[in-house]
Amino acid sequence: MNVIPAAVITPAVMIDVDILDRNIERMASSMRGRGLGLRPHVKTHKTLEIARRQLAAGAVGITVATIGEAEVFAADGVKDIFIAYPLWVEAPHAERLRALAAQCRLAVGVDSAESATAMGRQLGADAGSIEVLIEVDSGHHRSGVLPDEVGDVARAASSAGLKVGGVFTFPGHSYKPGMPTGAASNENESLGLAAATLTSAGFDVKTISGGSTPTALISGESTATELRPGVYVFGDAQQLELERCGWEDVALTVAATVVSRHEARGGNVRRVVLDAGSKVLGSDRPEWATGYGRLPEYPEAKLTALSEHHATVVWPESSELPPLGTRLRVIPNHVCLTMNLVDEVTVVRSGKLWSSGPWRRGDGTTRQDCLLRSPADPKAPDRCTAWRGIATLTRPNWRTTGCSRVIEGILRTRPEEVPVPDGPILLGYHVIAGYMSRVNGRFFESWGRSPISLHDQILHNGC
Ligand SMILES: Cc1ncc(COP(=O)(O)O)c(C=O)c1O
Repeated sequence: MNVIPAAVITPAVMIDVDILDRNIERMASSMRGRGLGLRPHVKTHKTLEIARRQLAAGAVGITVATIGEAEVFAADGVKDIFIAYPLWVEAPHAERLRALAAQCRLAVGVDSAESATAMGRQLGADAGSIEVLIEVDSGHHRSGVLPDEVGDVARAASSAGLKVGGVFTFPGHSYKPGMPTGAASNENESLGLAAATLTSAGFDVKTISGGSTPTALISGESTATELRPGVYVFGDAQQLELERCGWEDVALTVAATVVSRHEARGGNVRRVVLDAGSKVLGSDRPEWATGYGRLPEYPEAKLTALSEHHATVVWPESSELPPLGTRLRVIPNHVCLTMNLVDEVTVVRSGKLWSSGPWRRGDGTTRQDCLLRSPADPKAPDRCTAWRGIATLTRPNWRTTGCSRVIEGILRTRPEEVPVPDGPILLGYHVIAGYMSRVNGRFFESWGRSPISLHDQILHNGC
């Protein structure tokens, strides 16, 4: 069934809430049945409504990739967060980690003695409020130490004042046809070895964390205490082609329109062009994938090329070329990238817009706008360190520069100190002119859900 409601303007990301709920429940019940904790990676969806559904279905907490994501979900009341990433902690990160640890149980990844030492130094007396899990390389060969090397990292972390909670791994080498089962057993073995190494080094190993979507439903004896799949909530073309989900399990599709069509002529292939390119689908294409995504209604069609706003689809001989204006759904290759590219998603149920949608992506790294006002408080800050749209405030002195300079500073993607202007400041990774005039016009109003809660003078809508 082609289920693009008439009100949807293409290209648009659509989530089918019934399929989403089914996927959430399937993973939750598999974990329950195997006595494993489920700690879904929310970088896949970055959406508060979806995390709430995962937690209601029994997730023990969530996994995130960045401090910004942790802030968004902690502000929504999530009480147990693991930043599964080997953070390098500087002073601004330490300040944010401290604030997070005051709101939730916080664990972070670490994979070297140096980064553990730096983290402990930056956190100072607060180091003990944060737990670290040592990352193990189980075959993906990205970050992580070998299982027999975890002792050194754990000792450095402990000497730096951090709590050592256990070990984790991401078996990312499961992302290849024929690999999931082998990767799951590599994961199991590496985690078992690492946990034993840590125990014999005298540490109390409470958490043994693994998981990817391709491996999570492979049952069998597991040395893990919890798993962290993310993509399973939606499914995508990679999971389809790895045979980790069926067509009927794909909850997220991109609605697109045929804007150009060409019968095979002059040696050119028979094709249509859709109005959904890499700016909405994402451009991931592993070498083993059949294309840049799949069309659920036309499984034989091949997405052979993407430009920013175009998808070229080589059309199968077996069916008629669709007329211009035909609306088609596309399953993206890697759904985490698709969600990262949009601010809002259309929610559908049985082919109709669902009344509880649209859902707004709740990530702190794009279009998360907040308004700061000049405090009369003498302890108020005069510097603002902008980090992907998150502000950290330091000392007082409000007589410096105007909004536009600050915004320029904040628009850079790297953290940097910028002076706080006299009057309100708009922080945001993407700032548009309309927002500025509202800032100037209405000082104390704000909009957009903001993860910021570092200073009581910061106002943000909905929080
Ligand atoms: C550290 C970590 N944990 C868990 C996941 C989630 O796995 P998947 O994307 O296969 O659902 C990822 C994905 O990149 C990851 O990097």
